[in-house]
Amino acid sequence: MSSIPDSNVRYHCMVIGNPIAHSKSPDLHQAFAKQTGITLSYQRQYCPNDVDSFTAVIEAFFAGGGTGANVTVPFKEMAFSLCQQRGELSEYARLAGAVNTLAIKAGKLYGDNTDGRGLVADLLSQGVRLKDANVAILGAGGATRGAILPLLDAQVKSLHIANRTVEKAENLTRLFDTDKLTFSSLTDLPNDIEVIINATSIGLSGDTLPFAKDMTVDFAYDMMYGKPSAFLEFFKAKHAKTSDGLGMLVNQGALSFALWTGKQVDLTNFHF
Ligand code: ATR
Repeated sequence: MSSIPDSNVRYHCMVIGNPIAHSKSPDLHQAFAKQTGITLSYQRQYCPNDVDSFTAVIEAFFAGGGTGANVTVPFKEMAFSLCQQRGELSEYARLAGAVNTLAIKAGKLYGDNTDGRGLVADLLSQGVRLKDANVAILGAGGATRGAILPLLDAQVKSLHIANRTVEKAENLTRLFDTDKLTFSSLTDLPNDIEVIINATSIGLSGDTLPFAKDMTVDFAYDMMYGKPSAFLEFFKAKHAKTSDGLGMLVNQGALSFALWTGKQVDLTNFHF
């Protein structure tokens, strides 16, 4: 942990992960700080991948006056458990089973998850109609789990979860008390999907998704960014509108920033 920052710096934040060198969060939050006129220290925090190290780093950070932390791979579930044991969780974090934002609320550790709301905010800001839409999400890991409540909040007509391991998709539908959720394998998607979201880690493996060749949608969104996406190319070739996940990163960050500072960032024409 770096030394205590200048006394005139009011907000002390960090992103904790492993690896962490590539994280864009410090640049993002400094851009938010500049726009909202606050002074912020925001560091990248590497941590060994074990619970004891993670707990020790988080405790030291908040004991030293830390305002808030973003939590990234592979610590989101550990952060969830820590808040479950000694703090509080937002409804989004509870249903996501993961925490991407830590703060102190009424003297206690508080865990939120802004990823799914960041996704929905980005989709809406790009003019995507979610209300009454048939939406499909690919994958049944943490990224999908965190997106379900925000997509339901956006009043989708149906939300279909498709996954290579069908049982995992089925298990996710059981966590939510709604008949809007359905599930299938990746090759068995309904044919009335309007918005499709890739929340698998497939881009990292170099594999491609085994879609039916005649599948069409209005809008395709890949949660990944910064890499070519075979998923987006597939739908672009069919004249769908597409987007990578950079806006999700920006929006989830803006929600964390608001939790820590009380400041709302204006994301119109925002670049960082
Ligand atoms: P995250 O927390 O980012 O969601 P995860 O929990 O590891 O990551 O989930 C990764 C998702 O990508 C899973 O749904 C996984 O499918 P399985 O549940 O069948 O493992 C999906 N995935 C990863 N590689 C894939 C591939 N090559 N083809 C299809 N799905 C893949």
